[in-house]
Amino acid sequence: MSLLKAEIHCHIEGAADPDLVLRLAQKYDLDMGSIIKDGKYVWSDFTTFLKAYDRASSVFRTPDDYRLLTYDYFSKLADQNCIYGEIFGSSDHAALMGIGYNDLVEAMAAGIEDAKVQTGIEGRIIMTCVRHLGPESALAVAETIAENPHPMVTGFGMGGDERIFDVSEFAPAYAVAADAGLGLTAHAGEFAGAQSVRDCLDHLGVMRIGHGVRSIEDPELMARLRDENIVLEVCPGSNISLGVYDSFETHPLRMLHEAGVPVTINSDDPPFFHTTLNREYDLAANAFGFDDETINTFTRTALEAAFLDEPTRSKLLKRLETHS
Ligand code: ADE
Ligand code: ZN
Repeated sequence: MSLLKAEIHCHIEGAADPDLVLRLAQKYDLDMGSIIKDGKYVWSDFTTFLKAYDRASSVFRTPDDYRLLTYDYFSKLADQNCIYGEIFGSSDHAALMGIGYNDLVEAMAAGIEDAKVQTGIEGRIIMTCVRHLGPESALAVAETIAENPHPMVTGFGMGGDERIFDVSEFAPAYAVAADAGLGLTAHAGEFAGAQSVRDCLDHLGVMRIGHGVRSIEDPELMARLRDENIVLEVCPGSNISLGVYDSFETHPLRMLHEAGVPVTINSDDPPFFHTTLNREYDLAANAFGFDDETINTFTRTALEAAFLDEPTRSKLLKRLETHS
């Protein structure tokens, strides 16, 4: 029987199937010709990927579009034997389309609930700020989350271009999110080196790192991640697709795991990287050579690190342990 799965790093707009984007583009009379060719996303590097992501996001213009997107993604996760998904929402992207924070959250939560009723999958939302929009926007996002608590929004994160702004400038936003009791994560160690990961630990107080693979460049940092149980949300297919590493042979997933750093397997922006959670798990087995027991350890790590209430966590861990 195929393995159960859990994912804790996926951007909801980045999970949008090109077919869904084209359908909504037609409805709103928008041209997606610059980012979708022959039914597939096209971009050439991190900068053009982020632009394509923004363009695709612009078809989600009503709360119901977000509900449909979220439902579509969670249904697909459940079809892949995934029992838990944590998705990044971006209130900045939704606001550009005139969707308010509470409407966005209600819509995403409804999409998760609809998928749960049909399939049993559990899900939560990590609201993110966009790093290249700067520290003031980030603080505004954190304040909005704190002022509008919702049981399905359990974390705060940061995506976007990690090559700009100093991490320390985002400390006020993370302090607000921490005070609100949210789980904390941030993208680092993807396009910037090991120092960017250390900066997130020192200035933002995160318990998880999005990607973090370039921690491999610093053995002292690796020991710290292991000792402090900082979990890396690794997205191997994304890393190869975006050129962070040339090949799976040179990707550090195995070395991180063997050094005792807690790692998880995730899809990031699946159709942009021509991947799925299924494919990422296949890669773990067939490109990295991990056996089922080790892959189950990655899934357990994801559930243990999930920004989740304890009864739901226990229920999911039990499902994983009793699955044969
Ligand atoms: N936003 C969506 N995908 C991202 C990634 N891989 N890195 C940074 N920001 C992102
Ligand atoms: Zn990401």
